[in-house]
Amino acid sequence: MEGLYIDGGRPLTGTVEISGAKNAALPILAATMIHGGVYTIHRCPDIADVALAGEIIETLGGRVERRGGSLVVDTREARGDAIPGALMGKMRASVLFLGALLARFGRAALTAPGGCPLGRRPIDLHLDAMARLGASVVLQEGAIFCEAPCLHGAVIELLFPSVGATENVLLAAVSCKGTVVLQNAAREPEIADLIGFLQAMGAEIAGTGTDTLTIRGGAPLRETTYTVMPDRIEAATFLCACAGCGGEILLSGADGRHLGPVLDALTDAGCRVCRGRDTVTLQTQGRLRAVREIETAPYPGFPTDVQAPMMAALLRAQGESRFSETIFEKRFAHVAQLRRFGAEIEVVGAGARVRGVAALEPARVEGTDLRGAAALVIAALQAPGRSLVLGLGHLRRGYDHLEEKLRALGANVAVKPVES
Ligand code: EPZ
Repeated sequence: MEGLYIDGGRPLTGTVEISGAKNAALPILAATMIHGGVYTIHRCPDIADVALAGEIIETLGGRVERRGGSLVVDTREARGDAIPGALMGKMRASVLFLGALLARFGRAALTAPGGCPLGRRPIDLHLDAMARLGASVVLQEGAIFCEAPCLHGAVIELLFPSVGATENVLLAAVSCKGTVVLQNAAREPEIADLIGFLQAMGAEIAGTGTDTLTIRGGAPLRETTYTVMPDRIEAATFLCACAGCGGEILLSGADGRHLGPVLDALTDAGCRVCRGRDTVTLQTQGRLRAVREIETAPYPGFPTDVQAPMMAALLRAQGESRFSETIFEKRFAHVAQLRRFGAEIEVVGAGARVRGVAALEPARVEGTDLRGAAALVIAALQAPGRSLVLGLGHLRRGYDHLEEKLRALGANVAVKPVES
């Protein structure tokens, strides 16, 4: 087993090139299955979840080739409409192939997706929406069989602005006979990126960035080339790391427009933040101040994926910071591990209170989800001495070349085999 050894207690200074967004690249890769063609996806992050999406495409008969920072996907020969449970169970985004397979083949056989253990994470909104488009949905011993000889137009109102359900509707609707109006759609920037890719394929979609999307199905589709948006959650993670450790960083290739509530919280904490055209800089100015209230919400609210990294950044802030997690019912698994560094955190229901401590001590900890593991790295970077973070597999799923980027900022980190 390998672990990330971190000699913490030093500031972070330097520049980080932000990679393409995991949560945009994954639905875009699913979209390549809708129409047989050769697609070149630039700024495609080199992470485990993208590799897994490629494996799913190859299982379905497609071909995927990485060329540096780009992925070339050939789905002309794809014929499969069934995804093995072993692949489905490895990440949440595997469910996005449902809409794409229905659009292409009119049928899909899959199982419930995997993904970070953040609560129940049902897919009822996805399946209900597919049924509204005319698909029959049969659940049988854990397997899901969807048949849709002819997807048709519909008006669908999501009970909750689910990111994945919004994406599945977009993926299926482009091949519908008729017009689909999706109400209470999620507005995350990654959805705008998926829409941009589908429009580049020839799809006719209106309402980008709003909670009502209109898709005029049946437009002729074509292969295309596309550049994935920068990863706002990776950007936020590095900003939180620098805020927690002290120092000054410049994120290049970052889009500050997607980070409003995160930059506001870091400014409230006493950081000097500056947004450029495609850069974001952060400079700390002494000990951070606690942030009174951070409540996660669907975009454009504070992103739930930044709750854990922000909590880690505020572990040594002066005063008490309060978090409220409204999106996932179990997204405080990182708290018990953060306490091992000496953090003072109290969890009551969906809320957490962080009382800033003067210093953190090194610890041996284990991440159990992607963003929670990132929070443990941020805490270890602040603790003078040697810490060990286990659960590398979680980090590998969503952060592209994390160690190299941290070392470029002056951090002393290394992946090594773990003495038992
Ligand atoms: C996407 O997950 C992201 N994953 C998550 O990022 C992110 O945390 C989440 O959106 C919220 O922003 C990808 O894009 C691959 P949801 P998703 O459907 O689509 C409930 C990361 O770290 N719900 O908006 O699964 C659900 O249980 C990951 O990169 C239903 O009840 O999020 C949750 O409580 C973690 N029924 C809430 O809605 C459904 O059918 C939000 O889920 C679907 C969702």
